[in-house]
Amino acid sequence: MIDISLADFLSLPDSAKVAYIKDFGILYAQQFSRRDLDAYCELADAARDLHKVPAGRELMSSLLRHRMVLNFFVQPSSRTFMSFNTAQAFLGMSRMSVRDINISSMSKGESLVDSVRTFISYVDMVVMRHSDENAAAAAFWTAMKAHRRIEIHGQERPVPIISGGSGTKQHPTQSLLDVYTLQKSFKERGGIDGKTIMLVGDLARGRTVRSLAYLMKNYKDVKLYFAAPEKYQMLDDILQFLDDNQVKWKKIGSISEGIEQADAVYMTRIQDEYDELAAGTHEKASDDFVFTMEHLGRMKSDACLLHPLPKRDEIEIEVDYVNDRRVMYWRQERNGMWMRVAIIARLFGLDGRILSAQQELCG
Ligand code: NCD
Repeated sequence: MIDISLADFLSLPDSAKVAYIKDFGILYAQQFSRRDLDAYCELADAARDLHKVPAGRELMSSLLRHRMVLNFFVQPSSRTFMSFNTAQAFLGMSRMSVRDINISSMSKGESLVDSVRTFISYVDMVVMRHSDENAAAAAFWTAMKAHRRIEIHGQERPVPIISGGSGTKQHPTQSLLDVYTLQKSFKERGGIDGKTIMLVGDLARGRTVRSLAYLMKNYKDVKLYFAAPEKYQMLDDILQFLDDNQVKWKKIGSISEGIEQADAVYMTRIQDEYDELAAGTHEKASDDFVFTMEHLGRMKSDACLLHPLPKRDEIEIEVDYVNDRRVMYWRQERNGMWMRVAIIARLFGLDGRILSAQQELCG
Protein backbone atom coordinates (compact mmCIF):
# COMPACT_ATOMS: atom_id res chain seq x y z
CA MET A 1 0.00 0.00 0.00
CA ILE A 2 2.97 2.28 0.52
CA ASP A 3 6.04 1.23 -1.36
CA ILE A 4 8.67 3.64 -0.07
CA SER A 5 10.76 3.81 3.09
CA LEU A 6 9.84 6.07 6.00
CA ALA A 7 12.82 8.32 5.26
CA ASP A 8 11.82 8.64 1.61
CA PHE A 9 8.18 9.29 2.55
CA LEU A 10 9.15 12.00 5.05
CA SER A 11 11.45 13.66 2.54
CA LEU A 12 8.67 14.07 -0.04
CA PRO A 13 7.13 17.54 -0.38
CA ASP A 14 3.71 17.70 1.31
CA SER A 15 2.00 17.92 -2.06
CA ALA A 16 3.41 14.45 -2.91
CA LYS A 17 2.56 13.04 0.53
CA VAL A 18 -1.04 14.08 0.02
CA ALA A 19 -1.28 11.69 -2.94
CA TYR A 20 -0.64 8.76 -0.57
CA ILE A 21 -3.03 9.93 2.11
CA LYS A 22 -6.22 9.94 0.03
CA ASP A 23 -9.01 9.33 2.56
CA PHE A 24 -6.95 7.07 4.84
CA GLY A 25 -6.23 9.83 7.32
CA ILE A 26 -6.25 13.58 7.95
CA LEU A 27 -2.86 15.21 7.99
CA TYR A 28 -2.69 18.17 5.63
CA ALA A 29 -5.17 20.91 4.79
CA GLN A 30 -4.07 20.57 1.16
CA GLN A 31 -5.81 17.20 0.94
CA PHE A 32 -9.30 18.72 0.88
CA SER A 33 -11.28 19.76 -2.19
CA ARG A 34 -14.21 22.14 -2.22
CA ARG A 35 -16.53 19.14 -2.42
CA ASP A 36 -14.94 17.69 0.70
CA LEU A 37 -15.32 20.97 2.59
CA ASP A 38 -18.97 21.36 1.64
CA ALA A 39 -19.63 17.73 2.58
CA TYR A 40 -17.96 18.13 6.00
CA CYS A 41 -20.01 21.26 6.73
CA GLU A 42 -23.26 19.56 5.71
CA LEU A 43 -22.42 16.57 7.86
CA ALA A 44 -21.52 18.74 10.88
CA ASP A 45 -24.92 20.46 10.56
CA ALA A 46 -26.65 17.09 10.31
CA ALA A 47 -24.89 15.78 13.44
CA ARG A 48 -25.88 18.93 15.31
CA ASP A 49 -29.53 18.54 14.24
CA LEU A 50 -29.64 14.84 15.06
CA HIS A 51 -28.25 15.42 18.50
CA LYS A 52 -31.26 17.60 19.33
CA VAL A 53 -33.70 14.68 19.13
CA PRO A 54 -33.53 11.65 21.42
CA ALA A 55 -33.82 9.14 18.57
CA GLY A 56 -31.03 10.97 16.74
CA ARG A 57 -28.72 10.89 19.76
CA GLU A 58 -29.50 7.22 20.22
CA LEU A 59 -28.75 6.41 16.61
CA MET A 60 -25.50 8.40 16.57
CA SER A 61 -24.25 6.75 19.71
CA SER A 62 -24.75 3.31 18.17
CA LEU A 63 -22.76 3.98 15.00
CA LEU A 64 -19.22 3.31 16.29
CA ARG A 65 -19.95 1.40 19.49
CA HIS A 66 -17.63 -1.40 18.41
CA ARG A 67 -14.68 0.92 17.69
CA MET A 68 -11.82 1.92 19.98
CA VAL A 69 -9.86 5.14 19.56
CA LEU A 70 -6.61 6.42 21.02
CA ASN A 71 -6.16 10.13 21.62
CA PHE A 72 -2.40 10.48 21.65
CA PHE A 73 -1.86 14.11 22.65
CA VAL A 74 1.70 14.68 23.84
CA GLN A 75 1.60 18.46 23.41
CA PRO A 76 -0.71 20.63 25.54
CA SER A 77 -4.34 20.71 24.43
CA SER A 78 -7.72 21.58 25.92
CA ARG A 79 -10.23 22.17 23.12
CA THR A 80 -8.95 19.79 20.48
CA PHE A 81 -8.57 16.98 23.00
CA MET A 82 -11.94 17.60 24.64
CA SER A 83 -13.90 18.17 21.46
CA PHE A 84 -12.49 15.01 19.90
CA ASN A 85 -13.36 13.09 23.07
CA THR A 86 -16.88 14.49 23.07
CA ALA A 87 -17.36 13.80 19.37
CA GLN A 88 -16.13 10.22 19.85
CA ALA A 89 -18.51 9.77 22.79
CA PHE A 90 -21.44 11.05 20.67
CA LEU A 91 -20.58 8.36 18.13
CA GLY A 92 -20.38 5.70 20.81
CA MET A 93 -16.63 5.00 20.51
CA SER A 94 -14.56 3.64 23.38
CA ARG A 95 -11.66 5.91 24.14
CA MET A 96 -8.13 5.76 25.53
CA SER A 97 -5.60 8.53 25.83
CA VAL A 98 -1.87 9.02 26.18
CA ARG A 99 -1.03 12.59 27.14
CA ASP A 100 2.55 12.31 28.33
CA ILE A 101 5.45 10.62 26.58
CA ASN A 102 7.14 10.17 29.96
CA ILE A 103 4.58 7.62 31.05
CA SER A 104 4.65 5.67 27.78
CA SER A 105 7.35 3.28 26.57
CA MET A 106 8.85 6.10 24.52
CA SER A 107 10.54 7.12 27.76
CA LYS A 108 12.34 3.75 27.60
CA GLY A 109 13.65 4.63 24.16
CA GLU A 110 10.92 3.09 22.02
CA SER A 111 10.70 4.84 18.65
CA LEU A 112 7.57 6.69 17.58
CA VAL A 113 6.92 4.23 14.76
CA ASP A 114 7.17 1.23 17.10
CA SER A 115 4.86 2.95 19.56
CA VAL A 116 2.31 3.75 16.85
CA ARG A 117 2.52 0.18 15.57
CA THR A 118 1.66 -0.95 19.08
CA PHE A 119 -1.21 1.53 19.39
CA ILE A 120 -2.80 0.32 16.19
CA SER A 121 -2.70 -3.27 17.39
CA TYR A 122 -5.39 -2.23 19.83
CA VAL A 123 -7.29 0.69 18.38
CA ASP A 124 -9.23 1.50 15.21
CA MET A 125 -8.17 5.14 14.96
CA VAL A 126 -5.44 7.39 16.37
CA VAL A 127 -5.87 11.13 16.86
CA MET A 128 -2.54 12.71 17.67
CA ARG A 129 -0.91 15.99 18.58
CA HIS A 130 2.86 16.22 18.60
CA SER A 131 5.47 18.98 18.60
CA ASP A 132 7.37 17.26 15.78
CA GLU A 133 5.85 18.35 12.46
CA ASN A 134 6.65 14.93 10.96
CA ALA A 135 5.19 12.77 13.73
CA ALA A 136 1.74 12.36 12.17
CA ALA A 137 3.27 11.55 8.78
CA ALA A 138 5.48 8.91 10.42
CA ALA A 139 2.43 7.47 12.18
CA PHE A 140 0.52 7.43 8.90
CA TRP A 141 3.38 5.60 7.15
CA THR A 142 3.39 3.05 9.99
CA ALA A 143 -0.36 2.49 9.73
CA MET A 144 -0.02 1.95 5.98
CA LYS A 145 2.87 -0.51 6.42
CA ALA A 146 1.55 -2.46 9.42
CA HIS A 147 -0.40 -5.64 8.75
CA ARG A 148 -3.42 -4.64 10.86
CA ARG A 149 -6.40 -3.54 8.78
CA ILE A 150 -9.90 -2.50 9.81
CA GLU A 151 -12.95 -3.24 7.75
CA ILE A 152 -15.19 -0.42 6.58
CA HIS A 153 -18.10 -1.32 4.29
CA GLY A 154 -16.41 -4.57 3.28
CA GLN A 155 -13.12 -2.85 2.45
CA GLU A 156 -9.84 -3.47 4.27
CA ARG A 157 -8.40 -0.13 5.35
CA PRO A 158 -5.36 1.00 7.32
CA VAL A 159 -6.06 2.33 10.82
CA PRO A 160 -6.80 6.04 10.22
CA ILE A 161 -4.47 8.65 11.66
CA ILE A 162 -5.79 12.15 12.35
CA SER A 163 -3.48 15.05 13.13
CA GLY A 164 -4.80 17.20 15.95
CA GLY A 165 -1.82 19.57 15.49
CA SER A 166 1.59 18.88 13.90
CA GLY A 167 4.34 21.14 15.29
CA THR A 168 4.17 24.65 13.85
CA LYS A 169 2.98 23.47 10.47
CA GLN A 170 -0.49 21.94 10.30
CA HIS A 171 -3.77 21.75 12.18
CA PRO A 172 -6.10 20.38 9.52
CA THR A 173 -9.14 19.65 11.70
CA GLN A 174 -9.00 23.16 13.18
CA SER A 175 -9.04 24.61 9.67
CA LEU A 176 -12.13 22.52 8.89
CA LEU A 177 -13.96 23.90 11.90
CA ASP A 178 -12.80 27.40 10.98
CA VAL A 179 -14.23 27.02 7.49
CA TYR A 180 -17.44 25.65 9.03
CA THR A 181 -17.65 28.73 11.26
CA LEU A 182 -16.92 31.11 8.36
CA GLN A 183 -19.43 29.39 6.14
CA LYS A 184 -22.14 29.65 8.80
CA SER A 185 -21.31 33.33 9.37
CA PHE A 186 -21.54 34.10 5.64
CA LYS A 187 -24.57 31.91 4.96
CA GLU A 188 -26.77 34.80 3.95
CA ARG A 189 -23.97 36.48 1.99
CA GLY A 190 -22.97 33.84 -0.57
CA GLY A 191 -20.58 31.84 1.61
CA ILE A 192 -16.82 32.25 1.76
CA ASP A 193 -16.33 33.10 -1.94
CA GLY A 194 -15.30 36.70 -2.48
CA LYS A 195 -14.58 37.46 1.18
CA THR A 196 -11.62 39.29 2.70
CA ILE A 197 -10.14 37.49 5.67
CA MET A 198 -7.53 39.05 7.95
CA LEU A 199 -5.21 36.70 9.82
CA VAL A 200 -3.49 38.32 12.80
CA GLY A 201 -0.67 37.42 15.18
CA ASP A 202 2.00 34.74 14.95
CA LEU A 203 1.49 33.67 11.37
CA ALA A 204 4.98 32.21 11.08
CA ARG A 205 4.44 29.52 13.71
CA GLY A 206 0.66 29.42 13.96
CA ARG A 207 -0.39 26.08 12.51
CA THR A 208 -4.06 27.10 12.53
CA VAL A 209 -3.58 30.08 10.21
CA ARG A 210 -1.27 28.10 7.96
CA SER A 211 -3.82 25.32 7.50
CA LEU A 212 -6.63 27.84 7.01
CA ALA A 213 -4.62 29.67 4.34
CA TYR A 214 -4.19 26.38 2.44
CA LEU A 215 -7.96 25.82 2.46
CA MET A 216 -8.62 29.18 0.83
CA LYS A 217 -7.54 27.77 -2.54
CA ASN A 218 -10.97 26.09 -2.61
CA TYR A 219 -12.92 29.34 -2.65
CA LYS A 220 -13.31 31.93 -5.40
CA ASP A 221 -11.85 35.42 -5.10
CA VAL A 222 -10.87 35.24 -1.45
CA LYS A 223 -8.41 37.90 -0.35
CA LEU A 224 -6.14 37.31 2.65
CA TYR A 225 -4.60 40.08 4.75
CA PHE A 226 -1.67 39.03 6.91
CA ALA A 227 -1.38 41.38 9.89
CA ALA A 228 1.74 40.60 11.91
CA PRO A 229 5.00 42.07 13.12
CA GLU A 230 7.68 41.34 10.52
CA LYS A 231 9.24 38.51 12.56
CA TYR A 232 5.91 36.71 12.78
CA GLN A 233 4.79 37.27 9.20
CA MET A 234 3.44 34.45 7.05
CA LEU A 235 6.25 32.30 5.64
CA ASP A 236 7.18 32.03 1.99
CA ASP A 237 5.99 28.43 1.54
CA ILE A 238 2.40 29.54 2.15
CA LEU A 239 2.76 32.70 0.06
CA GLN A 240 4.09 30.59 -2.82
CA PHE A 241 1.20 28.14 -2.45
CA LEU A 242 -1.30 31.00 -2.55
CA ASP A 243 0.36 32.49 -5.63
CA ASP A 244 0.34 29.09 -7.34
CA ASN A 245 -3.38 28.81 -6.60
CA GLN A 246 -4.34 32.38 -7.49
CA VAL A 247 -5.33 33.37 -3.97
CA LYS A 248 -4.69 37.10 -3.42
CA TRP A 249 -2.83 38.16 -0.28
CA LYS A 250 -1.31 41.26 1.24
CA LYS A 251 0.93 41.77 4.27
CA ILE A 252 -0.17 44.64 6.51
CA GLY A 253 1.42 46.28 9.55
CA SER A 254 -1.55 46.59 11.93
CA ILE A 255 -5.13 45.45 12.51
CA SER A 256 -6.26 49.03 11.90
CA GLU A 257 -4.96 48.97 8.34
CA GLY A 258 -7.46 46.33 7.21
CA ILE A 259 -10.28 46.40 9.74
CA GLU A 260 -12.81 48.23 7.54
CA GLN A 261 -12.35 45.87 4.58
CA ALA A 262 -12.29 42.59 6.50
CA ASP A 263 -15.27 40.22 6.44
CA ALA A 264 -13.54 38.09 9.06
CA VAL A 265 -10.72 38.76 11.49
CA TYR A 266 -8.90 35.67 12.74
CA MET A 267 -6.74 36.35 15.80
CA THR A 268 -3.92 34.12 17.10
CA ARG A 269 -1.60 34.20 20.10
CA ILE A 270 2.20 34.33 19.95
CA GLN A 271 3.37 30.70 19.89
CA ASP A 272 6.12 31.32 22.44
CA GLU A 273 6.27 27.72 23.62
CA TYR A 274 8.77 27.38 20.76
CA ASP A 275 11.00 30.08 22.35
CA GLU A 276 13.32 29.74 25.30
CA LEU A 277 11.38 31.89 27.76
CA ALA A 278 11.58 31.57 31.53
CA ALA A 279 8.94 29.15 32.81
CA GLY A 280 5.54 30.78 33.27
CA THR A 281 6.42 33.92 31.28
CA HIS A 282 4.88 34.94 27.98
CA GLU A 283 5.57 37.47 25.27
CA LYS A 284 3.06 40.31 25.13
CA ALA A 285 1.23 41.00 21.88
CA SER A 286 2.27 44.39 20.50
CA ASP A 287 -0.37 47.14 20.40
CA ASP A 288 -0.90 47.13 16.64
CA PHE A 289 -1.96 43.50 16.82
CA VAL A 290 -4.32 43.63 19.81
CA PHE A 291 -8.01 43.57 18.87
CA THR A 292 -9.88 46.28 20.79
CA MET A 293 -13.43 47.55 21.23
CA GLU A 294 -12.42 50.38 18.90
CA HIS A 295 -11.70 47.81 16.16
CA LEU A 296 -15.06 46.15 16.82
CA GLY A 297 -16.70 49.53 16.31
CA ARG A 298 -15.00 49.91 12.92
CA MET A 299 -15.58 46.35 11.72
CA LYS A 300 -18.29 45.70 9.07
CA SER A 301 -21.71 45.14 10.63
CA ASP A 302 -21.86 41.58 9.26
CA ALA A 303 -18.21 40.61 9.77
CA CYS A 304 -17.02 38.07 12.35
CA LEU A 305 -14.18 37.77 14.83
CA LEU A 306 -12.55 34.36 15.21
CA HIS A 307 -9.79 32.88 17.37
CA PRO A 308 -8.76 29.21 17.60
CA LEU A 309 -8.10 29.76 21.33
CA PRO A 310 -6.37 29.69 23.75
CA LYS A 311 -6.00 33.44 23.84
CA ARG A 312 -4.02 35.73 26.09
CA ASP A 313 -3.75 39.49 25.67
CA GLU A 314 -4.28 39.77 21.90
CA ILE A 315 -8.01 40.48 22.37
CA GLU A 316 -9.05 43.22 24.78
CA ILE A 317 -10.97 41.64 27.64
CA GLU A 318 -14.10 43.80 27.10
CA VAL A 319 -14.59 42.17 23.69
CA ASP A 320 -15.17 38.79 25.36
CA TYR A 321 -18.37 39.74 27.09
CA VAL A 322 -19.85 42.30 24.75
CA ASN A 323 -23.26 41.31 23.42
CA ASP A 324 -22.36 41.30 19.73
CA ARG A 325 -23.05 38.51 17.21
CA ARG A 326 -19.80 39.28 15.42
CA VAL A 327 -17.74 37.96 18.34
CA MET A 328 -17.71 34.38 17.24
CA TYR A 329 -14.88 32.52 18.96
CA TRP A 330 -16.88 30.83 21.70
CA ARG A 331 -19.35 29.53 19.13
CA GLN A 332 -16.40 28.60 16.89
CA GLU A 333 -15.13 26.41 19.76
CA ARG A 334 -18.43 24.53 19.92
CA ASN A 335 -18.56 24.20 16.14
CA GLY A 336 -15.32 22.24 16.50
CA MET A 337 -17.11 19.46 18.30
CA TRP A 338 -19.69 19.01 15.52
CA MET A 339 -17.02 19.22 12.86
CA ARG A 340 -15.08 16.47 14.63
CA VAL A 341 -18.17 14.28 14.65
CA ALA A 342 -18.34 14.88 10.89
CA ILE A 343 -14.64 14.11 10.38
CA ILE A 344 -14.82 10.79 12.21
CA ALA A 345 -18.15 9.83 10.64
CA ARG A 346 -16.78 10.44 7.16
CA LEU A 347 -13.61 8.43 7.82
CA PHE A 348 -15.79 5.49 8.80
CA GLY A 349 -18.13 5.92 5.84
CA LEU A 350 -21.12 6.93 7.94
CA ASP A 351 -22.06 10.09 6.08
CA GLY A 352 -25.01 8.48 4.30
CA ARG A 353 -26.40 7.09 7.56
CA ILE A 354 -26.21 10.45 9.31
CA LEU A 355 -27.69 12.44 6.44
CA SER A 356 -30.59 10.06 5.92
CA ALA A 357 -31.30 9.92 9.67
CA GLN A 358 -31.39 13.71 9.70
CA GLN A 359 -34.01 13.67 6.91
CA GLU A 360 -36.02 11.06 8.68
CA LEU A 361 -35.85 12.35 12.25
CA CYS A 362 -35.45 16.10 11.87
CA GLY A 363 -37.44 16.54 8.66
C1 NCD B 1 -4.32 26.04 18.59
C2 NCD B 1 -3.17 25.05 18.44
O1 NCD B 1 -2.97 24.18 19.28
O2 NCD B 1 -2.50 25.20 17.44
N1 NCD B 1 -5.26 25.66 19.54
C3 NCD B 1 -6.30 24.83 19.19
O3 NCD B 1 -6.11 23.71 18.80
N2 NCD B 1 -7.53 25.35 19.26
C4 NCD B 1 -3.90 27.42 18.72
C5 NCD B 1 -2.87 27.79 19.76
O4 NCD B 1 -2.43 26.97 20.55
O5 NCD B 1 -2.51 28.96 19.75
